[in-house]
Amino acid sequence: MEQALNTIRTEAAGLIASAPDPAALEVLRVRFLGKKGELTAILKQMGALSAEERPVVGALANTVREELDAAVRERAKALASAGQAERLASERIDVTLPGTPVALGGPHPLDKVLAELKTIFLGMGFSVVTGPEVEYDDYNFTMLNMPKSHPSRDTQDTFYITENILLRTQTSPVQIRTMLQQQPPIRIICPGRVYRSDPADATHSPLFTQIEGLAVDKGITFTDLKGTLDLFFKQLYGPETRTRFRPHHFAYTEPSAEMDMSCFKCGGKGCPMCKGEGWIEILGCGMVHPKVLENCGIDPNVYSGFAFGMGLERIALMRYDIDDMRLLFENDLRFLRQFR
Ligand code: DAH
Repeated sequence: MEQALNTIRTEAAGLIASAPDPAALEVLRVRFLGKKGELTAILKQMGALSAEERPVVGALANTVREELDAAVRERAKALASAGQAERLASERIDVTLPGTPVALGGPHPLDKVLAELKTIFLGMGFSVVTGPEVEYDDYNFTMLNMPKSHPSRDTQDTFYITENILLRTQTSPVQIRTMLQQQPPIRIICPGRVYRSDPADATHSPLFTQIEGLAVDKGITFTDLKGTLDLFFKQLYGPETRTRFRPHHFAYTEPSAEMDMSCFKCGGKGCPMCKGEGWIEILGCGMVHPKVLENCGIDPNVYSGFAFGMGLERIALMRYDIDDMRLLFENDLRFLRQFR
């Protein structure tokens, strides 16, 4: 038995000292020192020894166990520090290498123009309200005095989700939503996307952006409408800007008008921008139709209001001298980077 112990002692010591990695070392530990290991197997046979031999062999067995234990710990330590050195070497980064640039975005030209418009209207006491792009037919048309058979629906064909739910063709339904929820005084602007089944070309898009305005209170007149819009365009394009109103028809306003502003390029003399007219057609507006107020539970004998709506893309195209509306929607970075 002593011989067997000495054999294990030398064999195990050699193997442990040259274990290539922590996993191999663990296999060796189990093989020699584990509960079912070779050393334990020998100790189990101690009962067969004589009373004199037993303490001698027992002492040797303990020495072997302690030696091998120590050898395993030592090898484990050596492997760990070698592993760390290897990792340090392989994971080393060269902090002097140039970094990966972080791409910075910028505001879209439409957002830039919208921010400008909002600032002006907020300064005049309007607040910003938004509404859903998927809208009830009722809010988009019927309650705006355009019932199902109304001919003016023809110019605003759109995409229908169901018979009574559609992609809104204008931001005007936000007027309805607001008036249904709130009694006057109301002073809001409503920016947002609208949809029409128009083919895309340089000046049309099936998706575009409008900004709607609504003011309802006691004693509001057409003068307030003219004053508000005139001041707005003077702030946007400069104090020399003039506005003019031409009679028009919208089902939800009475009277209705279209508004032109003097050409910001030629000041009204006539140039390619205004097609020689001196004026640029810019929005639709009018006094809120009494029926619309009534539809929303607001008494037209007590209150009156004005409303207007304009396309944001046209303003952006003119602002930045862009000649094709499709550029605003294509997300071409070469185009967008110019507005950073
Ligand atoms: N909704 C109209 C359009 O899409 C624009 C408009 C005209 C809005 C007159 C109004 C308004 O609020 O009073 O062409």
